[in-house]
Amino acid sequence: MRSVWKRTMVLLAGVTSACFSAVCVAQVTGVSLPPAQLTIDTGTIVTPVSPMLYGMMTEEINHSYDGGLYAELLQNRTFRASWEGVEHWDLVRHGNSQAAMEVDKNSGPSKALPYSLKLTVTAATQGEQAGVVNNGYWGVALKPHATYRGSFYVKPDDAAVGPVQARLISDRTGAVVAEATVPLRGTEWSRYTYALTTEDVPVSMQNHLELTVAHPGTLRLQLASLMQPTFDDRPNGNRADLMERMAGLHPTFLRLPGGNYLEGDTLRDWYNWEETIGPLVDRPGHQAPWGYWSTDGLGLLEFLEWCEDLKIEPVLAVYAGYSLRQEHVNPGKDLEPYVQSALDEVEYVTGDASTKWGAVRARDGHPAPFPLHYIEIGNEDWFDRSGSYDARFAQFARALRAKHPQYKLIATMPVKESSPDEQPDVQDDHYYKSWGEMLDFTHHYDDAPRTGPKIFVGEWATLSGTPTPNFGGALADSAWMTSMERNSDLIIMAAYAPLLINVNGGQWGTNLIGFNGTTTYASPSYYAQALFAGHLGDGTPKTTLSGGGKRFYYSATMGSKDHVLHLKLVNASNWEQPLTIHLDGAKGVRTARVSTLHATTYEATNTIQDPQFIHPVDSTVKVPAETWKHSVPGLTIEVIDIPLDEKER
Ligand code: AHR
Repeated sequence: MRSVWKRTMVLLAGVTSACFSAVCVAQVTGVSLPPAQLTIDTGTIVTPVSPMLYGMMTEEINHSYDGGLYAELLQNRTFRASWEGVEHWDLVRHGNSQAAMEVDKNSGPSKALPYSLKLTVTAATQGEQAGVVNNGYWGVALKPHATYRGSFYVKPDDAAVGPVQARLISDRTGAVVAEATVPLRGTEWSRYTYALTTEDVPVSMQNHLELTVAHPGTLRLQLASLMQPTFDDRPNGNRADLMERMAGLHPTFLRLPGGNYLEGDTLRDWYNWEETIGPLVDRPGHQAPWGYWSTDGLGLLEFLEWCEDLKIEPVLAVYAGYSLRQEHVNPGKDLEPYVQSALDEVEYVTGDASTKWGAVRARDGHPAPFPLHYIEIGNEDWFDRSGSYDARFAQFARALRAKHPQYKLIATMPVKESSPDEQPDVQDDHYYKSWGEMLDFTHHYDDAPRTGPKIFVGEWATLSGTPTPNFGGALADSAWMTSMERNSDLIIMAAYAPLLINVNGGQWGTNLIGFNGTTTYASPSYYAQALFAGHLGDGTPKTTLSGGGKRFYYSATMGSKDHVLHLKLVNASNWEQPLTIHLDGAKGVRTARVSTLHATTYEATNTIQDPQFIHPVDSTVKVPAETWKHSVPGLTIEVIDIPLDEKER
């Protein structure tokens, strides 16, 4: 094998150098890397694998929630106005009807929403109605045979201006896709609901919603909502297809609510969880740091219910007094209200209904406490140039440990020597790297001390491909995952970031799952991660590798209960990797299941138009335990399950 390898190296020297000097790395067939010998001692487990290694991190970025996971279809449902007017809303005046709209700053249904959209209709009839239209998030996405739940708050000057006609209309044909009539009562602020059910319509985002009346008069509108069907029919819930995508990653936790979203740009914009709970009309919303307003329709309780629906646990990040534009709260007295807010938040999540905040959660519709083990204090506090994090962390840690000693505390950067109750249990490290850097980074934790805090890689990604990773990204991500599995005695949790992107409205280059209003797609890195997380043992056996190419990576983990060896082989080179595998401690031939991800270039990828270009291919292979001669093609990720208990053949 070695002489064949040497000969082909010489023959193809020109080809390889040309290929490496270009941006593209393409698979070269018929050429091999030096052979590798991999020995796995299946009888010796050297380190444990964390049961929570793979999880998720999300935040309001790329329209992950509003215009994404959160099932609301109308954009700017609270009629916020800018110099451009009331964005996403416009007047609709059929025939010769006449109407005008303006924001009324003095009338609204609640303290949180003290203003409204005032609609003054001066001429309208049954056949010539007037009102307002909303164009949704890049259109109002509709599917056939689905029921959409509408609602709004209205204060009419005279109820005779009604009823309000709600109509879903196709942008392309003008056809009324579904409609409902909503009679009005009284002249006070009141909430009205209606349902719109589609028939055999095409799946399309090219629709809009009209709310009109057939009589002259004045009415004020607020919180006009239209919810699409949700996962498990949860009221105020999430889009089902995105929930299913996330479930496919086999996550064990959700780090929430961010990221930068926790911090806000300025102290005014911090994630004040108290303003994200309770009836929607009591949620003011807030400016999110990624350039748009957050409705907070997906608020703290909805985050927790999202975890519940996916049967995963929250990793709760509490705001720690630092916001992105170098603003911080001084430790000591100034920080106390924020520490109290964190204590209250933990009680809202975990307290039973006899506690103050547990009772509020019960009032909000969820009497049972949520499970919680980890609390993160802040986000990326190494950005705080004032150097205040040591003292801020210590103040939070003392208070949290005094009241809730059972939780593990996560710091967002190394914390200087201090008393034991001010030390973190876990440290959150973040890595965003190019594919070349990521491949070269895979030994970072191999020799890291095991004496300090455990590691949470709370955000990581190979930045390669837009809006979702290309295959080069998936290869480097996979190489990185092999290193996290190998070091999972230290790295107890990890989450790719960002997780979601609406392809019509993104702010970040490389994101794991792409979607628009009607569909979602999985990137090659998504498939790699789903395979890695779905095939993970609870211990790492002793292994040795010799020979092999410089961009060949592997991980071996074993299940102590099912005695399955989960072998991950990642060949990020464009040449084939021949391999001899010895399973020490096992004899005979087993049938292994193989899932393969492969592409012929680094740049190959999936898109919303071509979502399955790269996808896992399943096969089986006979594995002779003593000496298995195997070859991994260039640019290939293999996840192999070898049942060690299978009867010898
Ligand atoms: O994932 C995108 C951003 O990257 C996060 O909000 C932040 O924590 C990090 O800098």
